[in-house]
Amino acid sequence: MTIIRDQNTPRGDFVFYSDRVIRLLVEEGLNYLPVVSKEVITPMGVPFQGVTFEGRICGVSIMRAGESMEQGLRDVCTSVRIGKVLIQRDERTAQPKLYYSKLPKDIADRWVLLLDPMLATGGSAIKCIEVLLEAGVKEERILFINLICSPEGALTMLERFPKLQIITAEIDEGMDEHKFILPGLGDFGDRYFGTE
Ligand code: PRP
Ligand code: URA
Repeated sequence: MTIIRDQNTPRGDFVFYSDRVIRLLVEEGLNYLPVVSKEVITPMGVPFQGVTFEGRICGVSIMRAGESMEQGLRDVCTSVRIGKVLIQRDERTAQPKLYYSKLPKDIADRWVLLLDPMLATGGSAIKCIEVLLEAGVKEERILFINLICSPEGALTMLERFPKLQIITAEIDEGMDEHKFILPGLGDFGDRYFGTE
C-alpha cells in the first residue's frame, strides 16, 4: 500500500503492487461466501470434514478502473463470468454517469463480486448496485471488493444498502474539495492504465 500510494512510484511498480493487493482482496472476498459441510476421503483413507461452496459467482467491474481487478478474480476463479458496467464521474462535478452495462443473463441467481478499487463519494458504486438490483441480484449477495475507501463513501453505501458487504484494504481520512480520497493514491485509473 505504501508503494502504490507513493507519487514517485513508476507505473510498472504501481500495476505490480496494486495487482498483489487486489489478489489478496479477492481471496478475502471469497471467504465471505457461505459454505456447507462436505466430507472427503484423503489418500490416507481417512475422512476429512471440510466445506464446499454450492452457489455460483460472477464478477462485475465498474469500468474503467474496476477492470484492473478482473485478472485478480480470474486468477482464483477459473472461467469466472464477468459483467461490465461503464460509469464515469464527471471531472467537474464528481457526479457519476451510467453509459453501458452488460451482465451475465443468470446474474439474479449468482453471488456478485463487485470490483472497483476506489470508493470516494459512493456515487459510482451506488449507481452500479442499482443496476444489479434491477437485474434481480439480491443485495445480501453482493460483495464489494475495494482497495481504498473514504469513510463518507463507506457510510453512504452501508446506509443505502445495509446488507451489502464491503471488503477493503484501507479506510482513509476523507476527501478533498474535488472529491478525491485523502491521503489516497490519486487517480487510480490514470495511474494503472497510464493515461495521466
Ligand atoms: C473512479 C473510481 C470509481 C469512482 C469513485 O472512477 O474508479 O469508479 O471514481 O468515485 P465516487 O465514489 O465518488 O463515485 P472514474 O469515474 O474517475 O473513472 P475511471 O475508472 O476511468 O478512472
Ligand atoms: N477516483 C480515483 O481514482 N481516486 C480518487 O481519489 C477518487 C476517485
